[in-house]
Amino acid sequence: MESFKALLIEERDGKVESGFVRMDEGQLDPGNVTIRVAYSSVNYKDALAATGAGKIIRRFPCVGGIDLSGVVVDSADPRFKAGDPVIATSFDIGVAHHGGYAEYARVPGDWVVPLPAGLSLFDSMVLGTAGFTAALGIVRMEENGLRPDKGPVIVTGATGGVGSLAIDMLAKLGYHVVALTGKESESEFLRGLGAAEILLRQSLDLSKIRPLDSARWAGAVDNLGGDVLAWIASTMQQGGTIASIGLAASMKLNTTVAPFILRGVSLLGVDSGYIREPYRSGVWQRLATDLMPPHLASLARRISFDELPQVFEEYIAGRAKGRVVVEIAGG
Ligand SMILES: NC(=O)c1ccc[n+]([C@@H]2O[C@H](COP(=O)([O-])OP(=O)(O)OC[C@H]3O[C@@H](n4cnc5c(N)ncnc54)[C@H](OP(=O)(O)O)[C@@H]3O)[C@@H](O)[C@H]2O)c1
Repeated sequence: MESFKALLIEERDGKVESGFVRMDEGQLDPGNVTIRVAYSSVNYKDALAATGAGKIIRRFPCVGGIDLSGVVVDSADPRFKAGDPVIATSFDIGVAHHGGYAEYARVPGDWVVPLPAGLSLFDSMVLGTAGFTAALGIVRMEENGLRPDKGPVIVTGATGGVGSLAIDMLAKLGYHVVALTGKESESEFLRGLGAAEILLRQSLDLSKIRPLDSARWAGAVDNLGGDVLAWIASTMQQGGTIASIGLAASMKLNTTVAPFILRGVSLLGVDSGYIREPYRSGVWQRLATDLMPPHLASLARRISFDELPQVFEEYIAGRAKGRVVVEIAGG
């Protein structure tokens, strides 16, 4: 293997910095599957990690990128052989183990998922952790009894990666989707994905959240946390289900137990990071079949590896829309 390009995140004098370096095979982390990386993607967490805006990296230096898709070049794991197209996301990838922002990655076989039939390496990264997590939230809510005839589902952080993909999937499944966004200018974009209604975050009075308010939602995909999640809890229907996914607004949650004990609301924690097989491959299989978002192609923005450092700021500023796919070595 010749030397290869990587975006390395380092800590110098307590300050987190990232930049391009050349690495060689000996610097790859331990693992029994070596992958030539075709594509990676950008998630909110990647932006926090690469800029140091959030304490994400648990081991410095670390190649960023929590997602990667590519082709196996070498495997000591009997489940994979050279030439297999694969996806690797989550676990320690891009946070405590060199990640997808490099032309090669070496990871444990347990972190690798075969590319499902019907999904390209590129499309798997349009989905990436964002799509996997949106799907995981939907699968878990359905396991908890959510059905389209139960009532509307609200999706917060609607224009972001998880939000936009969740709307696309839920609308395809026949749900009445209400998109909660801070971007009025993106209303048409959200309607185009299948949102039946748009709710502006600025229109909510979050200073007066009552323990129980008008019951509106059968389901909720929450990417924001904080007061928005507290307001959602207070406006859930009897027996409603919330998938708590993100903290883009706040890590905190200040609510009462009223929605849970008087309306039987379920608050499901969604952690894409450590969901194991066979559940993980099962969710990817559904992403390639009934959960495949119909507008996947139009949600993708393809950038070159060189352009990657310039996009992190739009995520930190909450301006992200859809999904950014990074062409690492190409498919
Ligand atoms: N639990 C898990 O396993 C898991 C997996 C993936 C992601 N996540 C988390 O889920 C969240 C969404 O991830 P993502 O990759 O979709 O992020 P993203 O693409 O950056 O989208 C986040 C969206 O949230 C809204 N937003 C951003 N900052 C905000 C703020 N300060 N206040 C209110 N709204 C804000 C914006 O949408 P609007 O303008 O349309 O409101 C933004 O587009 C993040 O917190 C991420 O860490 C969790």
